[in-house]
Amino acid sequence: MRRKLAAGNWKMNGIGADLAEFEALARAHPRPDCEILICPPASLLHRAAEAASDTPIAVGGQDCHSEAKGAHTGDISAAMLRDAGASHVILGHSERRADHDERSEDVRAKARAAISEGLTAIICLGESLAEREAANTLDIIAGQMSSSIPDMVTGENLVIAYEPVWAIGTGKVPTLEQIGEVHDSIRAMLEARFGQDIGGAVRLLYGGSVKPSNADEIFAVSNVDGALVGGASLKAADFSGIICALENS
Ligand code: 13P
Repeated sequence: MRRKLAAGNWKMNGIGADLAEFEALARAHPRPDCEILICPPASLLHRAAEAASDTPIAVGGQDCHSEAKGAHTGDISAAMLRDAGASHVILGHSERRADHDERSEDVRAKARAAISEGLTAIICLGESLAEREAANTLDIIAGQMSSSIPDMVTGENLVIAYEPVWAIGTGKVPTLEQIGEVHDSIRAMLEARFGQDIGGAVRLLYGGSVKPSNADEIFAVSNVDGALVGGASLKAADFSGIICALENS
């Protein structure tokens, strides 16, 4: 059985005062029936880890460099994330692929660094609207998977997030059939490459405009083991609704 995961990506949002959301979330879910992860901006990571200690909430980073240290102004290494209290890191988010020109090969190098440091890598994949409309989605996902995922993965240290670029922050969500088709195909590709034990154990998250109002139906789709949530993870009340839906799925 794969343990379900509700992951929040705060993106470039959040200052110290927003850590009150951790308290509210922990109060609402003292013994959750799923894993809860919040990935705040790097500036908050250490304080977030302190706020989350003695709660079921884990904290993660939103990116890491592929190297352990060096002359890379503005970057953060996997070891630094761990030192600040992170257990996970989001890698290859479409906003980083777009804003920072990250290629799948870069994502793979980062994933190697993260996993070597003991972090769980949440690798993001997803097609653009043009790729979806050209019926290229499964090919795009297959290409991103083979180039972004390193060979060293296990069911513990890898999570895949399927986030269609056109569904992020837009309120648009693929049909449940479309989500199921992609998740089933990701599962099949993982099992073909890593075998059934590892490929069957990797959690697959859906991301893109997940809200309390649509979470139930998304979590009922096959091979959806949780969600990577942007906007609706910023407030404990919203994220809590999604966590409840996941617990009940
Ligand atoms: P939204 O939930 O705001 O659409 O963002 C999804 C996302 O990008 C999570 O990584």
